[in-house]
Amino acid sequence: MKIFLDTANVDSIQKYSEMGVIDGITTNPTLLSKETGNPIKTMKKIVEIVRGPVSLEIVATTFDRMMEESLKLAEYGENVVVKVPMTVDGLKVVKALTNKGIKTNVTLIFSANQALLAAKAGATYVSPFIGRLDDIGSEGLNLVSEIIQIFVGYEYTTQVLVASVRHPLHVIESAKMGADVVTLPPEILDKMIKHPLSDKGLDLFLSDWKKIEKDNPNLSF
Ligand code: G3P
Repeated sequence: MKIFLDTANVDSIQKYSEMGVIDGITTNPTLLSKETGNPIKTMKKIVEIVRGPVSLEIVATTFDRMMEESLKLAEYGENVVVKVPMTVDGLKVVKALTNKGIKTNVTLIFSANQALLAAKAGATYVSPFIGRLDDIGSEGLNLVSEIIQIFVGYEYTTQVLVASVRHPLHVIESAKMGADVVTLPPEILDKMIKHPLSDKGLDLFLSDWKKIEKDNPNLSF
């Protein structure tokens, strides 16, 4: 399963990319609104520093304007994936961009029907927002399972990109179901890295090594 970082924060992207666990980035207008500076420059910078796919979202809502924005975003780099909202015009945009060889990520997916239509239109990725479904008392992970079942059954190549991830269990369950990608806010990645027994175990190893050093001055690897 690929792991994308769900952020528009360039420092976070640099920090986590160095760990070698990040395969791509997803952004959206809300994430960009949390950053300072010019959002266009930020998007261009992210595309430049990341090797893998970077989802950049269009904000127009009518076909012609959506296409205009999409084509501009696609020019930022070969790794750009145009993030398109799940609407009638959005599906038309996905079809048109697919015909031009431009990758798309259909966002705001809340039902298997929406995912099916996005796949038929040629989407590279569909993004089910599972945390927001959990928020309204619906089981977000069930949606992931339904979409995977449909895509596998009909051999759609559209990748399931699990979004709106709120805790590490979402990640484990998505991986067990065979999701292609999860996109994670940096805080969730931190929680996945940490384990109290890892910290406790490291403290013990380090203090035991100090004892060895006491008896063996000038030790070095
Ligand atoms: O990638 C979409 C995701 O960022 C939405 O997450 O937490 O705003 O529901 P959230």
